[in-house]
Amino acid sequence: MSRWSDYLKNVCCHKMAQIKLRTFHFVIIFILMREIKTQISDESEFLVDRSQTGLTHVPKDLSLKTTTLDLSQNYISEIQSSDMLPLSKLRILILSHNRIQYLDISVFKFNQQLEFLDLSHNELRTISCYPTVNFKHLDLSFNAFDALPICKEFGNLSQLKFLGLSATQLQKSSMQPIAHLNISKVLLVLGDTYGEKEEPDSLQDLHTRSLHVVFPTKKEFHFILNVSVSTAVNVELSNIKCVLHDNECRFLDVLSELQKKPRLPNLTLNNIETTWNTLMSIMQIAWHTNMEYFSISNVKLQGQLGIRNFGSSATSLKALSIKQVVSDVFNFPQSNIYRIFSNMKIQNLTLSGTRMIHILCPSQISPFLYLDFSNNLLTDTIFKNCKTLVALKTLSLKMNQLKELANVILMTKEMKSLQQLDISQNSLRYDEDENTCSWAESLLSLNMSSNILTESVFRCLPPKVEVLDLHSNRIMNIPEDVTYLESLQELNVAFNSLTDLPGCGAFSSLSALIIDHNLVSHPSTDFFQSCQKIRSMKAGNNPFHCTCELREFIKNTGQLSSDIVWDWPETYKCHYPDPYKGILLKDFHVSPLSCNTTLLIVTIVTSMLVLAATVTFLCLYFDLPWYLRMMCQWTQTLRRTRNIPLEELQRNLQFHAFISYSGHDSAWVKNELLPNLEKENLQICLHERNFVPGKSIVENIISCIEKSYKSIFVLSPNFIQSEWCHYELYFAHHNLFHAAFDNLILILLAPIPQYAIPNNYHKLKTLMARRTYLKWPTEKSKHGLFWANLRAAININLMNEVKEKNHT
Ligand SMILES: *[C@@H]1O[C@H](CO)[C@@H](O)[C@H](O)[C@H]1NC(C)=O
Ligand SMILES: *[C@@H]1O[C@H](CO)[C@@H](O)[C@H](O)[C@H]1NC(C)=O
Repeated sequence: MSRWSDYLKNVCCHKMAQIKLRTFHFVIIFILMREIKTQISDESEFLVDRSQTGLTHVPKDLSLKTTTLDLSQNYISEIQSSDMLPLSKLRILILSHNRIQYLDISVFKFNQQLEFLDLSHNELRTISCYPTVNFKHLDLSFNAFDALPICKEFGNLSQLKFLGLSATQLQKSSMQPIAHLNISKVLLVLGDTYGEKEEPDSLQDLHTRSLHVVFPTKKEFHFILNVSVSTAVNVELSNIKCVLHDNECRFLDVLSELQKKPRLPNLTLNNIETTWNTLMSIMQIAWHTNMEYFSISNVKLQGQLGIRNFGSSATSLKALSIKQVVSDVFNFPQSNIYRIFSNMKIQNLTLSGTRMIHILCPSQISPFLYLDFSNNLLTDTIFKNCKTLVALKTLSLKMNQLKELANVILMTKEMKSLQQLDISQNSLRYDEDENTCSWAESLLSLNMSSNILTESVFRCLPPKVEVLDLHSNRIMNIPEDVTYLESLQELNVAFNSLTDLPGCGAFSSLSALIIDHNLVSHPSTDFFQSCQKIRSMKAGNNPFHCTCELREFIKNTGQLSSDIVWDWPETYKCHYPDPYKGILLKDFHVSPLSCNTTLLIVTIVTSMLVLAATVTFLCLYFDLPWYLRMMCQWTQTLRRTRNIPLEELQRNLQFHAFISYSGHDSAWVKNELLPNLEKENLQICLHERNFVPGKSIVENIISCIEKSYKSIFVLSPNFIQSEWCHYELYFAHHNLFHAAFDNLILILLAPIPQYAIPNNYHKLKTLMARRTYLKWPTEKSKHGLFWANLRAAININLMNEVKEKNHT
């Protein structure tokens, strides 16, 4: 495929480069796609199913690649050469249940591969022959042929394995053409008018391993047909109606013919309508042939059982099976029937679907190895204290009316060889107070599924059991004190109410566990440790709680290969909590942190400790709070500047800042402050430098303040003693305090103790208390930021500067 898509891509790209016509591309792609489809179908079978579609003709739109064609159950009445001609690949053709009346086999002349042709259940009366050789399966049964539809060309069908025929009369030597073939199975359906003529027919010419003859329905069996075919090992006879005259049924003669046959391993009778006495006669005959397996199914019985003795003499019969029996009256003593069956000296006996309510214990040591009494009305009293079934290995009492498990346990006590017991689909319960736990020690497989057992059943189990089926019961948990089952390999507890997976403490060999459809919400995590030998597990369809505890289970289950976990991941879904409901367990993820409380606490505490340590370290070594304050002031400054309209600011301003300081601090101002401000081209007003002579100090100060954008006060104890008095006066008289308030920058050069501020300096006190001031840091490393912050606070474009720049 990938080769093809590459090719497609290449071709497309190539073409698209060459031709720019859009429509043309589509044509090319379309052709390529069709080729791909063909390619695929070449690799596999091409099946076409047109059954039950109301067809009246073979459809014309079939793919030429069709290998299997199913046209069954339609209304097709003829097949023509033109229908079949194109289907040269056809191998299997199913035309059953149509209305075809005539067939010319030459229509398949060109279908050289055709090997399977089913024309059963049509209305065929005649066929025309044509030499074909390839048929392996040719079914012409259930048609309206009078004579057998065997032409001499059939003699060439050397590969024929199955041949289905139908006829209302068997002519002598009509089987001759196929006598030399070695067919596996022949089905011969005799039409309703069969058996008109007097002399008996014979099928002796046939060569087949299996012969199935279907007699006419509805009519009483009134003819003789020798069905003994020397090569046949299986003979099956269907539709036997003998109700009119007890023991005069012609079918008994047919059976007697079979008796003469030297070897007939298998005889099966289907759809019998007869009397009890005729049935017993049939069985008597079977008893004295040399057949080994005798099966009867779908029996409708009338009348009463007359005979008392059944030849329980030696027989070559090994297995007798009677299934699905309905009896119109049952008002005669049946112990006779029970006695006859229970005393048969055969190995296998099946009496299933017969509505029998009891069976007797064999009166002598019985050779029964296998008893299948499923689907009857048997009760707990069956085989009570029965000591003669010592060879019995397999017993099935499935689908009966068993109620008390204790009785079943007691029953098995005497069955010393019993290995397999099926008591599923009953109404069994087990009451614990019984101290009769006496299972047959030999039991290896026990099927107790579909009953009403609870967990108490685990306190009494056969000690050597290997396979235990307890599905569909009412088990809520597997108790601690279970019977120790060392050999248990397979445990099926599906469809119960278990809330957890079992541990394997008591089941040390457990290799297969089926526990789907229970109530397991938080499977124990130690399951995988405890059950090391698990090779197969089915635990889906449980209401899993998708919480932290489930992660271990999901991890373990996900790791096992899909051979081990049968139904992973599609049947393993979260049931709770709601946000996860319905999602697959394999897609459920939670972080390890949120699941582990200790880990969570440790992580939180650790990160808090680390944070605290970092903060402490930063504070101690880098004076973090100082930097933070600085940054904070800087941002505040920037914000404030942005908020004030520029024109208003620039009005009358000549200086960026006016600096006021004490003469004692002039060294710092001259060496530190001025150089750091002026190197950025900031205009500074100093009172020695810029004062106008003839004006008072206060007048000078006021003019300087008014021409400056900011006023910087270098605060120190000296400044307060010598300089501040001017400003108190200024602020008091000019009532400009609030307007000027924003324009003040206080640099705290040296700490000023509270007591050093005289009481009448109200403004200063307020300022010191409310305004954040810039504190001159003693560490050299902080000076850079200090200056930057200060410059930012006073830096604006002055109007005259702008004008100057414009002039130049
Ligand atoms: C009896 O039945 C069992 C189980 O179906 C089968 O395995 C066994 O071959 C049968 N034996 C005979 C002798 O038919
Ligand atoms: C037990 O019996 C039930 C039906 O009654 C069947 O479906 C199931 O496969 C049986 N179990 C075993 C282990 O054979």
